Formats: sequence, C-alpha cells, structure tokens
Amino acid sequence: MTEDLDFTPDEIGEWSERKIRIVTRHAEAYSKILANQNYLKHFYIDGFCGGGIAVRKGSGDHVLTTARRILAIKPPFTGYHMIDADAGKAAAMQLACGQQPGAVAHCGDANALLPQIMREMRHDQYRRALCFLDPYKILLDWNVLVEAARTKTIETFIHFPTGDIQRNVLRHDQSTVDPADVARMNLMWGDDSWRKAAFVNEPDLFGDREVKAPIDSLLSAFSDRLRKVAGFAHVSKPLPMRNKTNAIIYHLIFATPNATGLRITNYILKDESTPKV
Ligand SMILES: C[S@@+](CC[C@H](N)C(=O)[O-])C[C@H]1O[C@@H](n2cnc3c(N)ncnc32)[C@H](O)[C@@H]1O
Repeated sequence: MTEDLDFTPDEIGEWSERKIRIVTRHAEAYSKILANQNYLKHFYIDGFCGGGIAVRKGSGDHVLTTARRILAIKPPFTGYHMIDADAGKAAAMQLACGQQPGAVAHCGDANALLPQIMREMRHDQYRRALCFLDPYKILLDWNVLVEAARTKTIETFIHFPTGDIQRNVLRHDQSTVDPADVARMNLMWGDDSWRKAAFVNEPDLFGDREVKAPIDSLLSAFSDRLRKVAGFAHVSKPLPMRNKTNAIIYHLIFATPNATGLRITNYILKDESTPKV
C-alpha cells in the first residue's frame, strides 16, 4: 500500500512489525470481550502513536502501524486517544481518527497529557482502557505508570528501552555517562534505585569493584516495581525484541489489573515467539 504523507515516516524492521502484530492482536481480543459487556465503555490510549504509517526497511513499502490498525478493529472501542509530539504525525493521525467516532488525536508531550486522560478512565463510570506506551528511547515518566496503575481500569503495553539503557546509561566506564542520560533514566524509573539492580559489587585485589549486573536483573527489578510500587496486579515476563543480528533492541512488558488480560497477552506473546514454518 502507498499513501501521500505530510510527515516523515519512521523506518521499521521486522521486530517492529512483530510488536504491531502483538499489540493489535491483543486489542482485537480486548475489544471483542469488552464490547460484549454492555455496561462497560472501553478506550484505547496510545501515548506515542506515530503517524499511522511507517516504511519497511529494505523494501520501502508502506506499513500500517499499531494505531491505524486499532482504529479499524471491529467491534470498535468506545473512544480513542492518540498522542504524538510530532505535529505532522499528530495531524495525520487526526485525519485517520476522522473516520472513527470517538477518536481524538492530540499533539503534545505524552508525559504531560497522559495523566489527565488516564484519570478519566474511572472505575465507577464503568470505563476500561488498553494503553500502549511505545517511546523509542528512555523517555517515559514513571508517574504515567503510577497513574495508570492507580485507576485499576487500565492495562498497558510498555516499551522498556533496553538498547538505549545499555548504550548510554550502563556503560562500563561510568565516568563517560552523560548526566542528562542519568536524568532520563531516573525519570523513567521514578528515582535512582535502578542502580542497585544494574550494578553488583565484585571483590578484586584492591577491595570491591562495581560491575554491571546481567540485564535480566534490571528487568526483573522494573517488573517488581510495576507490581509493588506502581501497583499493577499482574506483569508479564518481558519479551525481548531482537533485530536481524539477534541483538536486543528493547523489551515489551505488559502490566494489568486483570488476570484475563495477562492470560490473553501470554498466549499472544508465546505464539509470536514461536517461529512459523
Ligand atoms: C517508536 S515511535 C511509535 C511507534 C508506534 N507506537 C507504532 O506502533 O507504530 C515513537 C513516537 O513517539 C513520538 N514522540 C517522541 N517523543 C514524544 C513525546 N514526548 N510525547 C509524545 N510522542 C512523542 C515520536 O514522534 C514517534 O512518532
């Protein structure tokens, strides 16, 4: 497919197409289940929605991305909030939203806009929401996750930016780390306690030396934090998203107040992790 675009589309690899499939499949199952419960209103909230079309690396083909595919799901959601900081992408998304009643695109910083939108997802108003937080780097504010968990109505996919963290924050030579990158990490974590999970002390000839812990230690600490500090009842095992050379770009994590949500996602994550012949 090709469309004339008034924004610069992102170039995406196979791992991004896999993510698009995972979130869209979950959204299809979610909307079907929620639409069957007449008293509930269900929403889709996308904090970093993009312009709805990306370019496939290599072929240059246009690919419909998550937000555009979710706008087309039947039965539809009651409402949609699509956010992107890029004016061209937000305008393209507003155009796509025009076809779908209850859909709004917002241009702005997701960290500033999401808390208010999330507070509107009130349990006592029978609202429920599926959220997708997919920044391409360390960018998300921990307070957004706290707000999502507090509602007890929101389940969310979270892009955990493993590659950016490894490259810029967990350097072997810590003196080369830019303080701005540490600040980004603190914002995403909510404080600087990530250090305890990211490094371990190892004895050497001169006493103790701080060395990098395996990345799983950081992922497990973040999942614990989603449960114990933010307050999500269920958190999936982080799914590594790898590029062609098998390097991990990021992890996809799913956090939810709802055991059924976790069951659906575990099924999809397992299915999407199994090579198809
Ligand atoms: C990885 S892309 C999103 C891809 C999309 N979720 C998908 O499935 O195709 C990240 C998007 O975040 C947007 N962005 C960057 N900083 C932002 C911010 N502070 N608030 C909202 N959007 C932002 C970028 O313009 C970009 O479109």
